[in-house]
Amino acid sequence: MTEQSGDADGELEARLAEQDSFDPPESFVEQANVTDEGIYEAFEEEWPECWERAAALLSWDEEYETVLEDEDAPFYRWFTGGKLNASANCLDRHVENGARNRAAIKWEGELGETRTYTYGDLLNEVEAFAASLRALGVEEDDIVTLYLPMIPELPIAMLACARIGAPHSVVFAGFSADALATRMNAAESEYLVTCDGYYRRGDALNHKQKADKGLRGVDHDVTTVVVDRLGDELRHFLGASAHDYADLVAEHEGESVAPVARDAEDMLFLMYTSGTTGQPKGVKHTTGGYLSYAAWTTHAVLDVEPEDTYWCAADIGWITGHSYIVYGPLALGTTTMMYEGTPDYPDRDRLWKLVEKNGVDIFYTAPTAVRAFMKWGTEYPERHDLSSLRLLGTVGEPINPRAWKWYYTHIGDESCPIVDTWWQTETGGMMVTTLPALGTMKPGSAGPPLPGIDARVVDVSGEEVEGGNAGYLTVNRPWPGMLRTLYQNDERFLEEYWREYSDEDGDEWVYFPEDGAKIDDDGYITILGRVDDVLNVSGHRLGTMEIESAIVGTAGVAEAAVVGGDHEVKGEAVYAYVIVEDGQEGDETMRERIVESVEDAIGPIARPEEVVFTPELPKTRSGKIMRRLLEDIASGEELGDTSTLRNPEVVEDIAASVEQTDE
Ligand code: WTA
Repeated sequence: MTEQSGDADGELEARLAEQDSFDPPESFVEQANVTDEGIYEAFEEEWPECWERAAALLSWDEEYETVLEDEDAPFYRWFTGGKLNASANCLDRHVENGARNRAAIKWEGELGETRTYTYGDLLNEVEAFAASLRALGVEEDDIVTLYLPMIPELPIAMLACARIGAPHSVVFAGFSADALATRMNAAESEYLVTCDGYYRRGDALNHKQKADKGLRGVDHDVTTVVVDRLGDELRHFLGASAHDYADLVAEHEGESVAPVARDAEDMLFLMYTSGTTGQPKGVKHTTGGYLSYAAWTTHAVLDVEPEDTYWCAADIGWITGHSYIVYGPLALGTTTMMYEGTPDYPDRDRLWKLVEKNGVDIFYTAPTAVRAFMKWGTEYPERHDLSSLRLLGTVGEPINPRAWKWYYTHIGDESCPIVDTWWQTETGGMMVTTLPALGTMKPGSAGPPLPGIDARVVDVSGEEVEGGNAGYLTVNRPWPGMLRTLYQNDERFLEEYWREYSDEDGDEWVYFPEDGAKIDDDGYITILGRVDDVLNVSGHRLGTMEIESAIVGTAGVAEAAVVGGDHEVKGEAVYAYVIVEDGQEGDETMRERIVESVEDAIGPIARPEEVVFTPELPKTRSGKIMRRLLEDIASGEELGDTSTLRNPEVVEDIAASVEQTDE
């Protein structure tokens, strides 16, 4: 297997290598949802009323009175006075409008079994499960934790919660038992929906064992529902406070559960994400603003139409899956795909096989995946007819121009625009990207801010930088999909996002996403990455502090520093520099114990790429670890300035031991 793609087509590669901007294909433009170039100006002129266009994509039980209330800024409120229900918007209204038999979710398990839920089926099961949750005691505003892999019961449970006004908190299934417990404790969540297990690379994984272990770390009583995903493949036993999902649904089959009219500002869900401290942040999203924004961006950026088969190959355990597998696409009444497993099982053409088989129109994934496809080679997509595709997208991390061009050529056949979408858990939906029929695409650059979004690149004092320069990304005006606060922690919300750039009197609030960025003369923004201590590994956000505290918790470890280093496929990888206690050996056993601690505390996604044992860490005279130097070492870059160090000699020693490990 060759590492390089497109070797057979060197001419094409050479032509593309020269090209740094691409116009949207005519065939796409002709049919696109948004084709009016005046939209940017119109949103400026009408701001904030422009956002009524987003709200108009939904059905409201009661019309809102005010588009934006900013008296308590930055605790902004959107569409106040309005009432709506997210599950009714994603299900009932489509069923009532004649889409009862349209596929809502097309699911494929890793071993190849498939399930299709029409809008009618989905509504029935959501109602039955909503009735079950109520019967178990779930009331409006109770937080229900969902610890489920990519099986249809996950979106069903989300919508069932939304139906009865119980916010959900989805915990990524790849997270560890400890991570589950931390999140359940933080949210004081008394209900858990989980499953026995699922398939990964053909193996049945025991998920329930992890969930049970997590529950032992929860401080209060929990009522649990278990989905039997694996049947005889994995026997499981329900404890006294656990219920079988299928039994509950059978018992409540056919019951109708009226969707609870929620205030626009009522919480739809919580999503925990990593921050600079060890404690994850509970990002609070609301019903009216979030859902409007998810629907609007799905319509305008992903160009989704009800007739489409749309596939976002992310995991619902992250915000991307919430907004762009579940809420956005279902609010628009389209067919959304879900795949349980890995892209290389049983072979590296699995995703392309799925695209061909289902006639997928729109495909949205992470740059990490694109880099892996590129590494695997063109033979895999070439085995399949991908001509159903109309639009491609990326999310979660910067995409390097070479990977972008590979995706454009070998997946999109040069006839699909690519939207490189910058956004965050906190923003609820996309913020910076081209509109696919309007903007010229520049590989590597996400594009201009979306209409109505005031994103800027500024210097340390908050002044906009000139075209061609780098600085920090800020958002200088609110938007409907924004987080409202961090759960039960308004102070941290202010501290993390607003204090850095807002003016001191608080007349002007500026949101700081903690990303570095560059802007060009056309106003296109290139995201450079996080400027806080958060890593982006394969598009997943991981806090270095969380990983460090797991490592320091390993017996025999005295001190640890975790940084990100460049990685060909993952974008960034975890590098751990560890000092062992006196009398301990930094050997293979210790390395394994450290890796195990990290997996126990967070999950395999946080597993260090390398563990480097060192007698000392580079520190400033005031005792702060110089992470920048450790990053340079991890990325194999020339070392930056060491003159402010208390112990400059240690840097060369560490660099030498990294090289040794590499050999
Ligand atoms: C990064 C994922 C470059 C960024 C939706 C952000 C990106 C963090 C892009 C949020 C992109 C997201 N180009 N970087 N198109 N999209 N990021 O909360 O650093 O998991 O702050 O949300 O991912 O990650 P999160």
